[in-house]
Amino acid sequence: MTRKKIAAGNWKMNMKHQEGVILISEVVNMVKDEVPSTTTVVLCPPFPHLGYAKKMLQSQPNIFLGGQNCADKASGAYTGEVAAGILKSFEVDYVILGHSERREYYKETEELLATKVNIALENDLIPIFCCGETLQQRQSGQHFELVCKQLTASLFHLTPEQYAKIVIAYEPIWAIGTGVTATTDQAQEMHAVIRKHLAGKFGELAQSTSILYGGSVKGDNAKELFACPDVDGGLVGGASLKSREFANIAKSF
Ligand code: 13P
Repeated sequence: MTRKKIAAGNWKMNMKHQEGVILISEVVNMVKDEVPSTTTVVLCPPFPHLGYAKKMLQSQPNIFLGGQNCADKASGAYTGEVAAGILKSFEVDYVILGHSERREYYKETEELLATKVNIALENDLIPIFCCGETLQQRQSGQHFELVCKQLTASLFHLTPEQYAKIVIAYEPIWAIGTGVTATTDQAQEMHAVIRKHLAGKFGELAQSTSILYGGSVKGDNAKELFACPDVDGGLVGGASLKSREFANIAKSF
């Protein structure tokens, strides 16, 4: 079973225009020279970067763009929101949904995320659907149940055809931006639980689902994480803002 290997960079709310231009041009050069074309690289900058970024990536067959979020409505009077259809019209291919920062700071619920997943798929965007537990939830032994519940609530209504497009990102909240990475055992254990849970609903299709790990992924820990049988890549925050570091991650498969 071959699964897509994905190195996705989530810039979060960082990088001014000129910084973005420099970062993308460096990433393009490094990926071209060092990363096999079988690896999918996804850059998820803040929205205003997407237009020029697309032009800079025109001749890069394996570098794609993603939004960090999209609206739960198709279009209309929703000031400050960005619709999935608008992202698609800028030739964006992916969208991160359900990031823990969106769940926590913007109170995005499982129901809202189910709607966003639908609208992303209707507009031919590939959702990178995030799940993950807090430290307290892990310490009290609820982590498997909690993550499976997040998946059930926002994805289990999908048809098999819709589900087949989804990418999952497991991001333990205690590992995000903390420098504390999940051990390979912790990552593999959770990824296997996630795949089994998805298989319970979608059967064999779950074997083709790319499940990314996120949380303090760096150039020097990516190789061991990506070597885990159920870890199919990474969703990278801080390290995606440094071209050398991100390229090192992207070539760690
Ligand atoms: P860091 O890589 O900075 O820990 O962030 C992970 C993340 O939240 C990616 O979406």
